[in-house]
Amino acid sequence: MKRRRFLGVLLAVFGATAATSFAYPLLRFFAPPSRDSRVKNVSISKNDIPLGGARSIVFNDNPVIVINRYEKGFVAFSRVCTHLGCLVEYDKGQRKLVCPCHAGTFDLDGNVLSGPPPGPLPLIPLKVEGDFIIIGTSVTG
Ligand code: FES
Repeated sequence: MKRRRFLGVLLAVFGATAATSFAYPLLRFFAPPSRDSRVKNVSISKNDIPLGGARSIVFNDNPVIVINRYEKGFVAFSRVCTHLGCLVEYDKGQRKLVCPCHAGTFDLDGNVLSGPPPGPLPLIPLKVEGDFIIIGTSVTG
């Protein structure tokens, strides 16, 4: 009887852990950041991202990737995959963004190339001024 109870508790702990690991990223993705924590913009030196390179930053408490694309210039996306919220990684050699969870892939315009993601990666506004990339330039408040 004690063994059954122990196994029941163990299963409950594993179940709660698994449920939390799925629910937390989804809640973070859909919950808006608190108004006080909003940052109007973030500046990065253009020299920090060579042609074809990328840099991950945190903008308004959200993971963002800034990419210096060949021929198209700088672009910034949310790194949160539109499938189940894993963080995408930049594959410089393949020139695409790859989600490690279910192999979803996105082109460097944020569009879905393959896999289960239902939509493109959210674009983060930016502008280039002199030697700096300013992320979030259209955020007001
Ligand atoms: S979470 Fe990215 S493909 Fe499933």
